[in-house]
Amino acid sequence: MDLNLPVDVTLQPGTLAFLESVPKKLLIGREWVEAASGETFATINPATGEELARVALAGAEDVDRAVAAARSAFESGPWSTMSGEQRGYLLWKLADLVEAHADELAELDTLDNGKPLRVSRKGDLPQAVRHFRYYAGLAGKIQGSTIPVSLPDLFVYTLREPMGVAGLIIPWNFPLLMAAWKLAPALAAGNTAILKPAEETPLSALLLGDLILQAGFPAGVVNILTGPGLPTGAAIVSHVGVDKVAFTGSTLVGREIMKNAALSNLKRVSLELGGKSPNVIFADADLPKAIKGANWAVFSTAGQECVAGSRLFIERPVYDQVLEGLASEAQRIRVGNGFTPGVHIGPLVSETQLERVMGYLEVGRQGRAEILTGGVRLGGELAGGYFLSPTIFTHQDDSQPLVQEEIFGPVVAATAFDDWQELVERANRTRYGLAAGVWTRDVSKAHRFAQAVRAGTVWINCYGLFDPAAPFGGYKESGFGREMGQEALELFTQTKTVWVGL
Ligand code: NAI
Ligand code: MG
Repeated sequence: MDLNLPVDVTLQPGTLAFLESVPKKLLIGREWVEAASGETFATINPATGEELARVALAGAEDVDRAVAAARSAFESGPWSTMSGEQRGYLLWKLADLVEAHADELAELDTLDNGKPLRVSRKGDLPQAVRHFRYYAGLAGKIQGSTIPVSLPDLFVYTLREPMGVAGLIIPWNFPLLMAAWKLAPALAAGNTAILKPAEETPLSALLLGDLILQAGFPAGVVNILTGPGLPTGAAIVSHVGVDKVAFTGSTLVGREIMKNAALSNLKRVSLELGGKSPNVIFADADLPKAIKGANWAVFSTAGQECVAGSRLFIERPVYDQVLEGLASEAQRIRVGNGFTPGVHIGPLVSETQLERVMGYLEVGRQGRAEILTGGVRLGGELAGGYFLSPTIFTHQDDSQPLVQEEIFGPVVAATAFDDWQELVERANRTRYGLAAGVWTRDVSKAHRFAQAVRAGTVWINCYGLFDPAAPFGGYKESGFGREMGQEALELFTQTKTVWVGL
């Protein structure tokens, strides 16, 4: 197969074999099937703008079939009576298989998403494996409690039961990892699942489907439907046979999902949405470390990360020094094809995203902000792809779109602040509340800021760290529900109270 990669890449034989089996099909029950309509769509390599593969486009009829398979697996069949411990064994087996196929899965994510292969292979993949293992361990440990009621002669206890059929709708920025974030707790808790990867990055989820079958999950426990938000995602959300939707993506679509969940069957919803996270550098911080950290907080993943530290607040006395350091760090970032060794960041995921981000840059240029460095689409041998240089804007007006809206590109809006009250007010002046960062050597200041900022995660003297054990999710319009840790199990279970008359 001719992949037209501008760099010399030797893909794993498994990756090539996977790419050659076309078109990619839907996983329903334990079968790989074509879409009922026979429709397919193209997934594009963002480093070249060229088609990678054609993938089945699931419509309402396919969603019906997948829901029926998931429903029947939930209500009857081996999964419905399996112990938590046994579900844990299956998840652990899947983790082993993902680990064994990490090279192929990482290559697929780099082809589809563009991120550097080193990042896919050493970042996303091991995290995904750890995620499956963490929830494999928890699967047998989901328990209710006994309740001391005040009425006499009663024994009251609770059971934590799965929701039923879970629709898992994920974005393109961490394709395999997001699949793991959603699937692992859903399955550990005993749900069955319909996974819909993003239309930009469907490939690794399909290879994962093969591994799920190999691990021995019973038919219908995991179904994988590829396709865009409309019709595929929307059909899952509006289906009355789906009991729960877990979503990561834009706030705009999050709203739509909540509305459609309400209008269909009041299915349970958890939403991990956008962000515009403040990152604060105090004058007393370890500045070289803070500069490196702030740089990484926004430019890693080319800014295509919900927690991107995209609003940088710098205490006035060190403002110039920090900006200078940041600009020189930003200029050292190597942007390029994810398969080129030594590349730090890849392209934006799609032409649409590139245009969106360029639109923000244009508004920024014409508005009340100054561009310090970057903001250029890269040409030469990268001209076919969607590459953008890391961009720093400076500003004093927080109300403009550049400062208020999630850009999801390698763009940071930097500003100076003078005092505590001003900082806290400005840091919280956003409809989002996903994450925040603070750099200081003053322990009490760090913790005071952590308490004052309205965000679901705060990083002190670090940024962008994740662990399967640490809960993660949003305040305000960044969504609700906590993924990871034991809290994620709450998204996928419901409590039943049982009264026993003695
Ligand atoms: P999106 O929110 O449209 O897509 C995310 C997922 O939702 C995809 O799987 C998509 O197919 C699905 N989807 C879209 N419309 C749907 C609908 N009506 N019903 C059900 N599912 C639907 O995000 P998109 O268009 O890829 O990116 C636009 C912006 O969203 C980005 O620029 C960024 O600001 C934000 N975003 C945030 C992410 C995060 O991690 N919080 C991830 C991806 C995007
Ligand atoms: Mg979209």
